[in-house]
Amino acid sequence: MRTWLTEQFELELPLISAPMAGVSGGRLAAAVSAGGALGMIGVSPAASAGWLRGQLELAAATGRPYGVGLLGWALELSDAHMKQVIQARPDLVSVSFGEVERWVAPLHDSGIALAAQAGNLVEAFDLEDMGVDIIVVRGGEGGGHGRNEVATLPLLQAVLDEVDVPVVAAGGIGTGRGLAAVLAAGAAGAWVGTAFTCCPEADTSAEAQEAIVRAELGDTVYGSIFDIAQQVPWPAAYGGRALRNQFTEIWQGRESELAAGTPAAVAASDQVLAARQADDIRYAPVYAGQSAGLVESERPVAEVLSEFATAAHHLRAVAAILETEG
Ligand SMILES: Cc1cc2nc3c(=O)[nH]c(=O)nc-3n(C[C@H](O)[C@H](O)[C@H](O)COP(=O)(O)O)c2cc1C
Repeated sequence: MRTWLTEQFELELPLISAPMAGVSGGRLAAAVSAGGALGMIGVSPAASAGWLRGQLELAAATGRPYGVGLLGWALELSDAHMKQVIQARPDLVSVSFGEVERWVAPLHDSGIALAAQAGNLVEAFDLEDMGVDIIVVRGGEGGGHGRNEVATLPLLQAVLDEVDVPVVAAGGIGTGRGLAAVLAAGAAGAWVGTAFTCCPEADTSAEAQEAIVRAELGDTVYGSIFDIAQQVPWPAAYGGRALRNQFTEIWQGRESELAAGTPAAVAASDQVLAARQADDIRYAPVYAGQSAGLVESERPVAEVLSEFATAAHHLRAVAAILETEG
């Protein structure tokens, strides 16, 4: 399978593993890159310089192309992570969910490609005007944070028709069939998060991995309650998709009550913070997309990549449809 993405980064598989703060460290990124796709490190705004240095070294050690994902809104508060990342010269940096434009020139001046996630058509147009190198079209079924306005497939069709920048599809792509579908639609590749959360190379806790394996397709919810409870300053437009748990059963849809700081809200905040410390997934967020329902076991990155490589088989089957039309 050869696309703009595989040519640009000398990949064997047109796939980027999504940056996932708290889940995709250097070990996961390295395993993905060593396996012929492009692995990305996800950086939490709270990450220390020492942690980031270690992850960058792990990913760079493969000698294969790799990337780093930063959060636009967090870079508006401090640009320290970006400075450190630029010095390490990864092949790709993503800046999503906040200001992107100010990073185009510094990254390009350092020879680093820039990707950014778009959750609607307007964001895609804006990113094209700014000069980003890859637009990641991200539908609302995706895991973790992003917009919940449009699903992947309608957004992908609209953006592919309207923009000239290479497009990668994200949200709900969990198997070779999904990769084949977005390639057939015209995407240069897929940007995949949830499918890698249960790899031993990921930093996901054992409790969260078990919950994702157990989850069915409809077991996620979208909203901002975990961010409000933890007082993380995510812009309101970007909620998070996470597995349903006892916390979401109680608080889903009650954002304003949580933000009001009532005694019940303060107790709820304490509960989430304590649960995160204890890996208690009844009250801590387990960020994952609808494709959690496609994750059936904990398996190494190499096996997940082999599954995605079956996209070639599915695409050949599509080509055969045309041949039989003859
Ligand atoms: C656990 C988790 C953490 C995430 N953290 C980040 C992040 O730090 N930065 C970012 O740009 N996107 C983050 N995302 C979103 C991904 O980049 C991507 O949009 C999403 O995983 C794609 O959908 P999928 O999960 O259905 O594959 C995260 C996603 C998950 C599941």
